[in-house]
Amino acid sequence: MKVIRTINEMQQLALQCKKENKSIGFVATMGYLHEGHRKLLSSARKENDILVASIFVNPLQFGPNEDFERYPRDEEHDEQVAREEKVDVVFIPTVDEMYPMPMSLRLTMARRANVLCGKSREGHFDGVVTVLTKLFHIVLPDRAYFGLKDAQQFAVVDALVEDFNFPIELRGIPTVREQYGLAKSSRNVYLSEEEREKAKYIYQGLQKGQDLIRAGEKRKEIIVNEVSQFIKSYTHGKIDYVDLLTYPKLEDINTVNQRVILAAAVYFNQARLIDNVILEEN
Ligand code: PAJ
Repeated sequence: MKVIRTINEMQQLALQCKKENKSIGFVATMGYLHEGHRKLLSSARKENDILVASIFVNPLQFGPNEDFERYPRDEEHDEQVAREEKVDVVFIPTVDEMYPMPMSLRLTMARRANVLCGKSREGHFDGVVTVLTKLFHIVLPDRAYFGLKDAQQFAVVDALVEDFNFPIELRGIPTVREQYGLAKSSRNVYLSEEEREKAKYIYQGLQKGQDLIRAGEKRKEIIVNEVSQFIKSYTHGKIDYVDLLTYPKLEDINTVNQRVILAAAVYFNQARLIDNVILEEN
C-alpha cells in the first residue's frame, strides 16, 4: 500500500492509471476509520482496479464552534485498516497542501443544504463540496463511495456531480450500525457509557416512524410528532431536528407520496448525532 501526501504525486498516479485503462474507486474520509468506512472500502474494492482512500479532516466544513481541533485522529490505526481492506493508495494531505492560501473561488450550495444539518451547520456543505471538488480532480475516480448515514451529504454530492458533470459514478452505501442500532460514527467516542445506551433510541424512533408510514400513515405532521416524542422521552439529548422530506431533492412535503427521508439529529453532551431512514414509494 502506498501512502501519498502530495497532490502532485496523487494526481500523477491517477493519470497513469487512466493511461493504463485501470478503473479508480475512491473513498473520501476524515479518518478514525471504523466499520462504516470499512464497508465503503470493501464495496469499492470489489468494483475497481485501483482503490484510493483519502484521509483529510477538512477545516472548511467545520463551523467556528465545532470540533475541528479535537476531531479524533489516529493515522497509524487508519493505515492498518486501509491495509486490511486492501487499499492501494492512501492519500493523506496536510491542510497546507490542500489549502496553501485562501481560495479565490467559492462554491455555495443553492439547494439541498438549507434543511436538516445544513440549517444548523451553516456553510458546512459548501465546505464539503469544495473539498470534494478538489479531491475528485486530484484522484480522478471512476466511482466514488459515500455512506447513506450522511444522507444529506450524499444528496449534496449527487448535485455536485450532476451540476458540474463530473464523470463519476456515485455509490450510496447503507448505514453500518452497532448491534443495538446506533449508527457507527467517528464521533461516538465522545459519548459517555450512558449516552451510548440512550443514543440507540434515535434509530428506534426513526424505525417507529418508518413503521407508521408502512402502515399507511401519510401525514408528515403526525409522523414527525410521533418520532420527536419518542426520541424526547427516551434520551436526555436535545433534539436539533426531526424532519421528513423528499429524497434526494430534500424538498418539503405535507404528505408522503414519493421517496422520502425521515431524519433526526440530537445533541448529546459532547456530540451531535445524526441518523435517517430512506423510504421508497409504496
Ligand atoms: P467521514 O465522516 O469520515 O465519513 C466518510 C464516509 O464514510 C462518508 O461517506 C460517510 O457517510 C461514511 N460513513 C460514516 N459512517 C458510516 C456508517 N456508519 N455507515 C456507512 N457509511 C458511513 O463524511 C465525511 O467524512 C466528510 O464529510 C468527507 C466526505 C470525507 C468530506 O470531507
